[in-house]
Amino acid sequence: MIESTESVAMSQTLLLMGPLLPAVMETLESTYTVHRHWEADDADALVARISEGCKGVVTDGGRGVSNEVLEKLPNAGIVAVFGVGVDAVDLDYCEGRGIAVTNTPDVLSDDVADLAVALALAVSRRLVVADRYAREGRWASEGGLPLTRRMMGKRAGIYGMGSIGGVLAKRLAAFGMEIAYCNRSEREGSPYRFVASLEALAKDVDFLFVTASAAPGTIGSVNAAVLDALGPEGWLVNVSRGTLVDEPALVEALEQGRIAGAGLDVFEDEPNIPEALFPLDNVVLQPHVASGTHETRAAMGQLVLDNLEAHFADRELPTRVV
Ligand code: 8YV
Repeated sequence: MIESTESVAMSQTLLLMGPLLPAVMETLESTYTVHRHWEADDADALVARISEGCKGVVTDGGRGVSNEVLEKLPNAGIVAVFGVGVDAVDLDYCEGRGIAVTNTPDVLSDDVADLAVALALAVSRRLVVADRYAREGRWASEGGLPLTRRMMGKRAGIYGMGSIGGVLAKRLAAFGMEIAYCNRSEREGSPYRFVASLEALAKDVDFLFVTASAAPGTIGSVNAAVLDALGPEGWLVNVSRGTLVDEPALVEALEQGRIAGAGLDVFEDEPNIPEALFPLDNVVLQPHVASGTHETRAAMGQLVLDNLEAHFADRELPTRVV
C-alpha cells in the first residue's frame, strides 16, 4: 500500500475517472470517499448524484476529464492527473474556475527516456524482425540477416528539452551521439545545440526523438515536411503523445520508405493503432508503456496522493500545473 502521510477526512468526496495502480487505489479509497466513474452503470447519473459534494477529480493522462463532467461538479477544487501530460484536461477552463490541476512530472522521466533508447535501438538494429526470424527457425535454413545501422556516434535530435528530453540527452551522450534540440525557447546553459526550427532539426539528424508535450503549438508539428527532412536514413522515436505527429503522413512515409523507420509508444487515437502499421517491418510498436514500471507508477501514485493531501490541507501543491 502506498503511504498516505496524514489522515485526511473521509468525508472528502472524489471522482475517479479510471483505474490506477491497485496500491494507489487502495490508499485513495481508504483515505477519501471515491466514486468510480468508469464502472458506473450510468456515469451521468453518478456525476449528478455526487455533484455538489464532489471536491475533486483523479484521472490519468490519457483519460483526463471533460469540461462537461467538471461543469456538473461545482465544488471540485482539484484535478489530480496520474501522468505528466495534461493535454486531456482543459487548463484554461480549470484556471477560469479556480480548479487546481496537478500532474506527476520528473518521477517518470528516467523510464520514459529508457524506453526511447530501447525503441531507437529496437528499430535501427531491427531487434523485433531478428527475434521473429530466430524464433521461426529461419537462421538455420536461410542464413544470417542483412546488416543494420549502428546508433553509436550518430546525430540525435530531441524535440522538447524538458525533464524527459534532458535525461534522454544524457543517455544519448553515453552513446557518443551528437545532440541537438528544438524547444519553445533555447535552454540557457544547455550543453546541446539549439535549433529553432523542427524541420531544420530533422534535416540535421539521424534519430529524431519526440519528447515535447502536447499543446496547441506542438500538435501535428511532426508533419510530412518534417518527416521528409528526416529522410530515408532517419529514424523517428515518439514517447510523448501521438497527436504531435501527423499520423497518416507518418504511415505514408513509413510505407514508402521516405524515413528509415519509427519506434512508437504513443498514437493519435489510443488504444487504436493504425492497422496499416502492423505489416511494416520498419516500425516497432508499444502500447503506451514508457512509464509502465512498478517503480515509476508507484512514484506517480505517491505524487497524486501528495497533491490531494496538500490540497485538502490547504498547503502548497507539490506539482501544480495551473
Ligand atoms: C501514463 C503518460 O501512461 O505521463 C503521461 O503523460 O502518458 C503516461 O505516463 C499515463 O498517464 C497513465 O495512464
